[in-house]
Amino acid sequence: MTKTGFGVDVGGSGVKGGTVDLTTGQLIGDRIKLPTPQPSVPRAVAETVAEIVKMAKWEGPVGVTLPSVVTSGIARSAANVDKKWIGMDARTLFRDALGGREATVLNDADAAGIAEVKFGAGREAKGVVILLTFGTGIGSAILHDGVLLPNTEIGHMEVDGKEAEHRAASSVKDTKGQSYKEWAAEVSRVLTRYEDLLWPDLFIAGGGISRKHEKWIPHLTNKTPVVPAALFNTAGIVGAAIAVDTGIAP
Ligand code: BGC
Repeated sequence: MTKTGFGVDVGGSGVKGGTVDLTTGQLIGDRIKLPTPQPSVPRAVAETVAEIVKMAKWEGPVGVTLPSVVTSGIARSAANVDKKWIGMDARTLFRDALGGREATVLNDADAAGIAEVKFGAGREAKGVVILLTFGTGIGSAILHDGVLLPNTEIGHMEVDGKEAEHRAASSVKDTKGQSYKEWAAEVSRVLTRYEDLLWPDLFIAGGGISRKHEKWIPHLTNKTPVVPAALFNTAGIVGAAIAVDTGIAP
């Protein structure tokens, strides 16, 4: 029998969920997407998560990602989401919204990293893998031989006097109207700093802009190989479902 799980990925503009085949990392049935409530306060987001689970007719435990640092089920930061998340016991909030069933909560980039290493672009990788999601901000996941070091948040590291995500998130490219080449120069600067400190064996580039990887990855000048993410818009969902199954959430 196929082993299945359920993941929900909470983002700044959309909340996405689906049933995951845990042996292949593929979604079973549709990926369900609802707009993120605005303001994206905890209670409204929890109701949206519950709505998605109901639409999918899923009965079991649920994994949920947040764009926040999460320790022991508590959200500790809220860089691109309503500040009311800070200090919120997200595990209890989702459990209550889901009628008392178990909820596992983890950072969105950590979930994507877990999924890419298990089923995607990092499947064959050995050693230290850093997954970065380029979107409104820069999310990060650092894994060593498949084991996650949670909540690394290197998107907030200062690089040449500026936070990395204020320099090289894909939202910066849009705001500044940069070409792919101009933006890639900023990404290279950030990756070079990361590799000076962490010496990864591989970078995986995720986020929407990884779909256009052929336009910018060839312009990068850092030394570590950079490959595009393979799971695209399902990585967070799949990683959240894996986290429930393996109990690896922080
Ligand atoms: C947040 C991270 C998150 C990333 C991507 C950053 O601004 O601090 O926790 O993973 O954005 O959503």
